[in-house]
Amino acid sequence: MTRTQQWGTRVGLVLAMAGNAVGLGNFLRFPAQAAQNGGGAFLIPYLISFALMGIPLLWVEWAIGRHGGGFGHHSAPGQLDRLGPYRWLKYVGVFGLFTNLCVAAYYCYIESWTLAYVWHSVAGTFRAVDPQRFFPDYLGVTAGSMFALPLPALFFFAVTLALNTFVLSRGLEKGVELAAKIGMPMLLVFALVLAVRGLTLAPGDPGVIESPLVGLNFVWQPRLSGLLNPTTWMAAAGQIFFTLSVGMGSIHCYASYVKQKQDVALNAASAGWMNEFVEVVLGGSILIPIATAYLGLNVVQAATAGGSGFGIGFLTLPTLFNNWGWFAPLAGAMWFGLLFFAGITSSLAMGQPILSFLEDEFGFRRTRAALAFGAATFLLGFVCVWLYPGGAFDEFDFWTGTFALVVFALLEVVIFAWIFGMDRGWEEITRGADIAVPRIFRFVIKWVTPTFILVVFLGALFQPQGRAWGAAFWKLFGGEMWPFAPESVIGRVLHVGDAGYSWLDAAGAPTRAMVQDLSRLLLLAVFALCFFLVWKAWRLKARREK
Ligand code: ALA
Repeated sequence: MTRTQQWGTRVGLVLAMAGNAVGLGNFLRFPAQAAQNGGGAFLIPYLISFALMGIPLLWVEWAIGRHGGGFGHHSAPGQLDRLGPYRWLKYVGVFGLFTNLCVAAYYCYIESWTLAYVWHSVAGTFRAVDPQRFFPDYLGVTAGSMFALPLPALFFFAVTLALNTFVLSRGLEKGVELAAKIGMPMLLVFALVLAVRGLTLAPGDPGVIESPLVGLNFVWQPRLSGLLNPTTWMAAAGQIFFTLSVGMGSIHCYASYVKQKQDVALNAASAGWMNEFVEVVLGGSILIPIATAYLGLNVVQAATAGGSGFGIGFLTLPTLFNNWGWFAPLAGAMWFGLLFFAGITSSLAMGQPILSFLEDEFGFRRTRAALAFGAATFLLGFVCVWLYPGGAFDEFDFWTGTFALVVFALLEVVIFAWIFGMDRGWEEITRGADIAVPRIFRFVIKWVTPTFILVVFLGALFQPQGRAWGAAFWKLFGGEMWPFAPESVIGRVLHVGDAGYSWLDAAGAPTRAMVQDLSRLLLLAVFALCFFLVWKAWRLKARREK
C-alpha cells in the first residue's frame, strides 16, 4: 500500500490552489468577457457573484474535499458518497471526473498553442503577419477545411500532454507543488513587466493612438448599468465559475490532501483572492489597455465579440508588440510564457482528480494512473485538435467548461447544505480555521448560493433570442413559443438558428451540425463511461468488504 500523499508546505498548497484557479481564463477570457459586457458594467455583477457564489463555493468544496480525504477519498465520487446515506450521492461525483477529463482535453490544446507561440515569438513569426489571419493557422489549422489534420498543432498538443503527464507522475509534492512554486512567481513577474510596459505607453509613442488608461478605465470603472441586465449577470457568474475552477472537482481533490485539523477557511479565501487579484488587476491591465492604445476602444470591443479573447490574445497582441522594437520577441515570449504557466498549473489540477480516483478506487500505481490520464486526454483532445474548425472544440467548451460546472455546483451545494446539513457543514468549514468566517455565510450557503446558481442555470437554459427577456415573456403570454436563443442550452440542443439543419450538405459533405452532434454524443459516452467506472469501483469495494 502506498503512503497517502500530502502537501509539503502551506505556501505550496496555496500556490497550487491559486495555480489551479489562475489560468487562461484570467488573461484571455476575463478581459474579453469584460469588454463584451460593457467593461465596468460587468464588474459589479462579477464582484457580487464572487462574494455570494464564488467564495461560498470555495469553502464548500474545500470542506467536502478535506472531509472526504479523511476517509481516503481524493476524488469527487467517494467524497460525495460520504456526505449522506444515499447510494446515488457518489454518482453526482461522476461530474468531478467527467468535467476534469473533458475540460483538460480542450484546455491542454489551448495550453499547447501558448507553448507553440512562445517558440513563434522567439523565431520572429509575428514580425510580418496579416492581422486578418486565422490565428491558429501557424499550427496548420485551416479555417475552411473541416477535416484536415493539423500536424504541427498535434505535435505541440502531444508535447504539452507529455509534460502534464510527467509532472503528475512525480506526485503531489515533487510534481504539482513544485510546478506551482516555479510557475506562479514566473507568471506574476511576466505579467507585471507587461502591465507596466503597456500602461506607460503614451500618445505620441510610435503607433499609439489613444492612452492605454482609456482601456483600463473601461474595464475598471464600475458602472451600475450592468445590474439590471440578466445577460451581464450570466456572463459574470459564468466567468466566476470558470476562473475559480469551482464546480469541477479539482478543488475537492487538492483539498483532500490537507490534514483534518489544518485550516481550510483562510486557505480557500487566500487562493480565491489571489485569483481575483491576478484576474482583475493583472488580467485587466494587459490585453485591453495595450490593444486600446494601438487600435482604439471600439476596435477592441469588436475584436472581443466572441468573448473568448483568442483572436486578440493570440494574434493581435503579438503583432502590436512589434511596435516595441528589440523588446518585441521578448514581450511575446513573456506573454505566451505567462499564459503557459497559467495554463499548466490549471491543467495539472484537472489531471490530479483522475489520478487520485484510479489510485484510490482501483489501486493503480501513480505512474500508471498518470499515463492513463495522458492517454485518455490525448484521445479526447485529438477530436478537438482535428475537428477544431468544425466546432468540436466549442462543444467541449460549452458542455463541459460552462454547463457541467453549473450543474455540479448546484447539486453539491444543495447536498452539502441540506443533506450533510449546515451544522456539520459549518463545523467542517470552520474546524482549524485561521480566520473567523462571518456567520452570515451559514445563511448564504444554505439559501443564497443555491438560489443564485439555480437562477443562472435557468437563465442559461432559457436565454431568449436577442437576450430580450421582457419581449420573450410577452410572446409567451400571447400564446407564442418561447424564442430560445441559439446559444441557450435548449437552443443548442434543438439547433435553433441552424436553418436547414442537416448532417450532410447539398453536395453530400458532412456539415458543422454533424460535428456538433457527434461531439455531444462523444461527451455523453464519456459521461456514461465515468458513471460505469464509479459503479464498478463500488461493486469491487462491496466484494472486498464481504
Ligand atoms: N480556472 C482556470 C482558468 O481560469 C480553469 O483558466
